[in-house]
Amino acid sequence: MRSTSNPTHRIVRFDTGRLDFQGWAKCALDVDSLEELHRRSDLQDLPVYEAMARCVAQLTQAYEACEPLLRNLFSDIVEREVGVRHGVFQTPPTFRVHLAGCPTISNFHRDIDYGMGKECLTVWLPLTRSWDSNSLWIENSGDCRKMLPLRLAYGEFAIVDTANNFHGSIMNKTDNTRISLDSRFIPKTFL
Ligand SMILES: [Fe+2]
Repeated sequence: MRSTSNPTHRIVRFDTGRLDFQGWAKCALDVDSLEELHRRSDLQDLPVYEAMARCVAQLTQAYEACEPLLRNLFSDIVEREVGVRHGVFQTPPTFRVHLAGCPTISNFHRDIDYGMGKECLTVWLPLTRSWDSNSLWIENSGDCRKMLPLRLAYGEFAIVDTANNFHGSIMNKTDNTRISLDSRFIPKTFL
């Protein structure tokens, strides 16, 4: 298992054969390719935020079949990486659908400014390859603070300190839709 660390986040690998998040999402959204979700016929005539909301609702409605996958991710991997205080994590998670060509789905903010405890962390798990403008951007801590996109392949997730670091998204200028989930929890040990 690869695990790389940064003061603001840690990238961890999981076994996609055992935790088939992508297969579950393809079924929930009735598409063969998640990265091409923006081509689905029923989305073509909808305003962009309505189209994205429809897809998020479909994922949320189908969550029951995904819950064991997320539970195993936490018990097998997140627990080993940073621990999960009281074994509690956010379920259902928040699903994000950032269709190709669409504007930001989250303006830049820190979660502590919205009432989240400063000790909270977020599991950010993309169900599609995520890089550049289709990804989550987060500030790089250090003397020269700069917003940078997370670059993750499917099969990787990030444990992110979204409470204390600015993060958000920008207009998705790639040809690929990004689908991700995020789930908050309190770690036993900090990053
Ligand atoms: Fe946030």
